Amino acid sequence: MKFAKDFIWGAATSSYQIEGAAYRDGGGSSVWDMLGRQAGKIANGETGEVACDHYHLYKNDVALMAEIGLQAYRFSISWPRILPDGAGKVNQQGLDFYSRLVDALLEKNIKPWITLFHWDFPYALYCRGGWLNRDSADWFADYTQLVVDKLSDRVSHWITLNEPQCFIGLGHQDGVHAPGMKMGVSEVLLAGHNALRAHGQSVQVIRAQTKTRSFVGASQASIISIPVSDHPNDIEAARQHMFSVQEKHVFNNAWFSDPMILGHYPEQCVELFAADMPTIYPGDLECINQDLDYFGVNIYSGVHVRATEANGFENVEKEELPVTAMGWPVTPEALYWGPKLFHERYHLPIVITESGMANDDRVDNGKVQDRERIEFLYKYLGEYARAIADGVPALGYFLWSLLDNFEWAEGYRKRFGIVYVDYETQQRVLKDSASWYKNLIAKHISESLQDAETATDKNQTIECI
Ligand code: FCB
Repeated sequence: MKFAKDFIWGAATSSYQIEGAAYRDGGGSSVWDMLGRQAGKIANGETGEVACDHYHLYKNDVALMAEIGLQAYRFSISWPRILPDGAGKVNQQGLDFYSRLVDALLEKNIKPWITLFHWDFPYALYCRGGWLNRDSADWFADYTQLVVDKLSDRVSHWITLNEPQCFIGLGHQDGVHAPGMKMGVSEVLLAGHNALRAHGQSVQVIRAQTKTRSFVGASQASIISIPVSDHPNDIEAARQHMFSVQEKHVFNNAWFSDPMILGHYPEQCVELFAADMPTIYPGDLECINQDLDYFGVNIYSGVHVRATEANGFENVEKEELPVTAMGWPVTPEALYWGPKLFHERYHLPIVITESGMANDDRVDNGKVQDRERIEFLYKYLGEYARAIADGVPALGYFLWSLLDNFEWAEGYRKRFGIVYVDYETQQRVLKDSASWYKNLIAKHISESLQDAETATDKNQTIECI
């Protein structure tokens, strides 16, 4: 596997999934707190109220990151923790928490990558219409401004939204994620449009207000289309499939990324959604379409596709594929075709902002032997390296996740971490995959240093000659 010497190796988490202490220290509640109070919405009636108690244990967790050798850490800010009502009154303790976290990371030489929104939408703003309210873009811009004012002297890397496909699609259309709504298509599209406007305004605020050079993107959810063979027809079928939309749902690869990067909604969707399309006011698309520094994408799995004579492409069910504890098929080639096809369409360097697997991990004699995860990472990263070797510019990789955590509607039963969390005692145990990742990062750094030395030696030789 060959990665550029400045390639970034990191791990990711999100506020609601790890922090806990949702109601303490002056913070407000979010739509996920609201969903947690509704019977039957989350497995075993669990909530993020305590989670990994990272709010109190962050120093310990940063020490673990340093032990693994992470170069970057992607985490999110809880909007209601710093603005209890979502707008207006500021909770200074909340802001100070993130400031301390950033300092602790920098002290260990770990670059903070901040996600501004990873789904914990302020409950108070939900009561004012949430993403359906056109003002939501201004609320998000004001919140961005507060964070940027406080942290951009030390933070340069920003992710505006995490997976609008999920918080709009699963949250407002399917009702399985917070706020748990099953709305009609036109309301879903309106909420999505306002979230896109919020992204655009947020990027503008970051660019205008940052105190250091900013590096900005968003994280998209994905379903990667993998051609069943190397035949050009199957590859073309996968390309078509990857950006096509077959049903009236926003969980697809183009609906959010096209307006952000290409400046318009995908035509095929506009036709399909027809009368359900939201009103697009003059200036909306220009606002959404901001220059981004990278294409951030979360890749877990893919579907196989082949060419057909009739309509161009079709899905191929591969029954023999192994699945993770989430039931998601293990398809390493997703990390080849995803970066390749996204780069082809959007012409931005790729950052994998999440990838990883849930596994039935358990502690045995003080160890967690998650061989399945190591094999998964090895195969997926091999495919990512192959995409890079084929010319796809790629800047980094964030493993999901640093810690086992609250996996949304699945509660705590799905373990994604490379660090095991005992939720009774809050003890952390580094899994075998954490040691494997640590070796990979160390090897990458030492090889990069050697390459740099060889290059310097060569230059010196040339100079001497
Ligand atoms: C992604 C989410 C992340 C985590 C992983 C497993 O969709 O962004 O928070 O739940 O899935």
